[in-house]
Amino acid sequence: MVDITREIVTLKRQLGSRLCVMGHHYQHDSVVQHCDITGDSLELARRVADVQAEHIVFCGVWFMGESAALLAGPGQQVHLPNPDADCLMSRMSPASLARLVLEQLAEAGYPAVPLAYVNTDVALKAVVGEYGGAVCTSANAKTMLRWALRQGERVLFLPDRHLGDNTATQLGIDQTERHVLRVGAHGLVQAKNQPLNRRLLLWPGCCAIHARLSLEDVEGARAAYPGCRIVVHPECREEVVSCCDAAGSTSFLIKEAERVAAEVPGSTLVIGTENNLVKRLATRYAKQCRIVPLAHAICGNMAKVTEKRLWQALGAVVEGTATPVVVDENLRQPARLALTRMLTACGQ
Ligand code: 13P
Ligand code: SF4
Repeated sequence: MVDITREIVTLKRQLGSRLCVMGHHYQHDSVVQHCDITGDSLELARRVADVQAEHIVFCGVWFMGESAALLAGPGQQVHLPNPDADCLMSRMSPASLARLVLEQLAEAGYPAVPLAYVNTDVALKAVVGEYGGAVCTSANAKTMLRWALRQGERVLFLPDRHLGDNTATQLGIDQTERHVLRVGAHGLVQAKNQPLNRRLLLWPGCCAIHARLSLEDVEGARAAYPGCRIVVHPECREEVVSCCDAAGSTSFLIKEAERVAAEVPGSTLVIGTENNLVKRLATRYAKQCRIVPLAHAICGNMAKVTEKRLWQALGAVVEGTATPVVVDENLRQPARLALTRMLTACGQ
């Protein structure tokens, strides 16, 4: 039987500095062990520009590979070990529909600056770039929402209504200034009956993995681990976030684990996010504290990237048969603009 782990090590050695394997924190340990760079969406997007390797093999979902391809330099290729790994939330705001809604808002006298979560495809990012907007990640959503509110009278945040909602709460934007749009196949549904004049319009999308985490899960954790600290990802619903002790991006959750392990040894930290990451943190700090998942939360699409797929992708790179991610040249410039506006606004 083939020892895939060893084969990967051999292939990586063979490719040497021509290769960089990048991976998101939600990947399984069997994949993460081979990554040269791991990070959350923001860290990975930031690091692409510094990577000199000719081939970037990106262990993550489709939009992450596409964003890497957008930011990659000339002559660099980005490969996804499994192109079927697709973040379902990133498909909830198709570019054509988002464009239609932006036009309808402008026609109704309520133009909006689009602010798109990085979990979107390149076509959507291009529409956002074209309409003067930018991209954000969960790590910089607060800075970017503040930025977007300075660009115009109102902001259309898409596609994750919960990240938008939680970020608005952090900025002190009242509920009466927010509205979750009703959108159908033909754009806004009964536009006249919707309060489109509000400062923050939220697209009705969400991440099924995080939106499933519930108040009952939080109550159950508090009962099971008296005195525990509960932290969650801001893709969780606002009612869940508001009864937890803190919420933040993947990198924030990692820092929390590190901090609790160092400062509150013997305590219990409950983390509400993708379980691969929670399990890794639990193992890393097992001697200092107890870390448990808030509830079962596995992203089936992230899990489509396996060690075997990585091995096959590296083999294809060595043989010269790999199919890199191709970005439509017409979309490249406006989509890149939306991404670079984020990097500039955040001083990166
Ligand atoms: P981060 O931006 O925190 O990396 O999250 C990406 C993601 O897909 C969360 O579900
Ligand atoms: Fe997309 Fe949710 Fe999976 Fe993240 S956890 S990749 S947002 S489906």
